[in-house]
Amino acid sequence: MNFEQLIVRNRSYRRYDQSKAVGADTLRDLVDIARRTPSAANRQPLKYVLINDPDGCARLFAHLAWAGALKDWPGPAEGERPAAYVIILCDTEIAKDPGCDHGIAAQSMLLAATERGLGGCMLGAINREGIRQDFNIPDRCEILLVVALGVPAEKCVLEEMKAGAGVDYYRDAQDVHHVPKRPLDEIILDL
Ligand SMILES: Cc1cc2nc3c(=O)[nH]c(=O)nc-3n(C[C@H](O)[C@H](O)[C@H](O)COP(=O)(O)O)c2cc1C
Repeated sequence: MNFEQLIVRNRSYRRYDQSKAVGADTLRDLVDIARRTPSAANRQPLKYVLINDPDGCARLFAHLAWAGALKDWPGPAEGERPAAYVIILCDTEIAKDPGCDHGIAAQSMLLAATERGLGGCMLGAINREGIRQDFNIPDRCEILLVVALGVPAEKCVLEEMKAGAGVDYYRDAQDVHHVPKRPLDEIILDL
């Protein structure tokens, strides 16, 4: 798999084979990759909470919102939920503002997970106060993002966004998840 193929395979997966565990060593490896990515002023304020036990996964799942564009889908059912999560925090005693560090870290972890045959999804629509209480997140840490991980159990494909069509992703009759992306010539400005 070359780099472009890795980027294309790294979709936002929301249904997994929950019976396939993601080991603690794998989660540590992903954070080990993330910690070597760029950081504004090299402050490195990000901290990580690793969760792969069934009880922790169930508690975190209660604080997540899935696929806002799929109005009739309440999110992954038991058996197709993520087997692990990484909660990304900003330690505000190190930096008040993480800039875009957490996006870089999350995408790097997801690319590394994809290379290992896993898949994931960034989640920003999260109940931060609930997560803080349930996981004893210290006050000095801002909750930035949750990264869900597991062995994907759905097919996701990219397609060119058609003129006048919206950005909403959708599932077809075969249950394939389609993600429209804006055409290259629309996003490169010829000024
Ligand atoms: C910062 C960020 C936050 C996101 N939050 C959520 C979320 O809360 N729930 C969800 O189901 N997907 C979430 N997503 C996934 C996006 O919906 C997804 O990236 C988009 O639909 C495009 O699909 P793709 O990642 O396969 O290209 C988030 C993505 C990003 C980058």
